[in-house]
Amino acid sequence: MVIVRDYESFLVERQKLQGSIGFVPTMGALHSGHLSLIKRSKAECDNTIVSIFVNPTQFLEGEDLDKYPRKDEADKKICQLAGVDILFMPTVDSIYSNDELVIMAPKVRGFILEGAKRPGHFDGVLQVVMKLLNIVSPTHAFFGKKDAQQLALISQMVKDYFMHTKIVPCDIIRDEKGLALSSRNVYLSQDEYNRALSLSRSLKEASYMFAKGLSDVTIIKEKMEQVLLESVDTLEYVAVVDRTFKPLKKVQQDNTIILVAVFVGNTRLIDNIWL
Ligand code: PAJ
Repeated sequence: MVIVRDYESFLVERQKLQGSIGFVPTMGALHSGHLSLIKRSKAECDNTIVSIFVNPTQFLEGEDLDKYPRKDEADKKICQLAGVDILFMPTVDSIYSNDELVIMAPKVRGFILEGAKRPGHFDGVLQVVMKLLNIVSPTHAFFGKKDAQQLALISQMVKDYFMHTKIVPCDIIRDEKGLALSSRNVYLSQDEYNRALSLSRSLKEASYMFAKGLSDVTIIKEKMEQVLLESVDTLEYVAVVDRTFKPLKKVQQDNTIILVAVFVGNTRLIDNIWL
């Protein structure tokens, strides 16, 4: 595995690769969720490139940019053992310059849910993913369904801008108790961890209700809110949307995503389920 830190050195290494290129962009502090994307890339592509870049433009004022977990040495080992070909760990200065042109999230789908709660977040995500996809020029890029709205907006960007990469959605990886893995889970105390389990419990409840024949969104949301409010500190939203992020009144088989966002203590957590 080679590790490179700037665009020029990256290109030298990239030019040596032949065949399909799978790309897994991350912000590091790698866990089994990230690893599942890397494994999928290894299984489907001839070469695998991982990036680790804590992207400042997607953090809002007052968010956890400064304390975001950084585990470079452990991450390098994980990538090495997973058989990654190139690990790209650029510096902020090698990615951003002054007075750049801007990319903005779409007016409707970019401004609901995460876009409403974290204004500007998706502009930063799309800006960096556009840069990384242009630098890496992969045939395939792997993204987790865990960040469902991010995945939808990146898929839209690739389509709207006629970019050549195939976006591959990957399943959510959870721990044995059901908590969706996230680099931010390290912030949780034991008590907060226990309370955070209500996210997956509420989603399981929803899928159970749907499996029993109930599809009315109001009733499903009410039940989920009841489960969540017993445990979380702030309930930001429960939403039921179709795969294009249009709100639904009735759950549709194979075309529904149910999403939750909460605070447990000071930690913001999101989770979702695809029905
Ligand atoms: P990060 O949070 O590090 O996540 C990197 C990728 O791993 C994303 O595609 C995310 O959806 C996926 N992922 C995270 N937790 C997962 C889990 N439990 N199961 C499956 N996949 C999971 O998302 C970002 O970084 C950034 O916004 C990025 C796209 C790198 C742009 O900066």
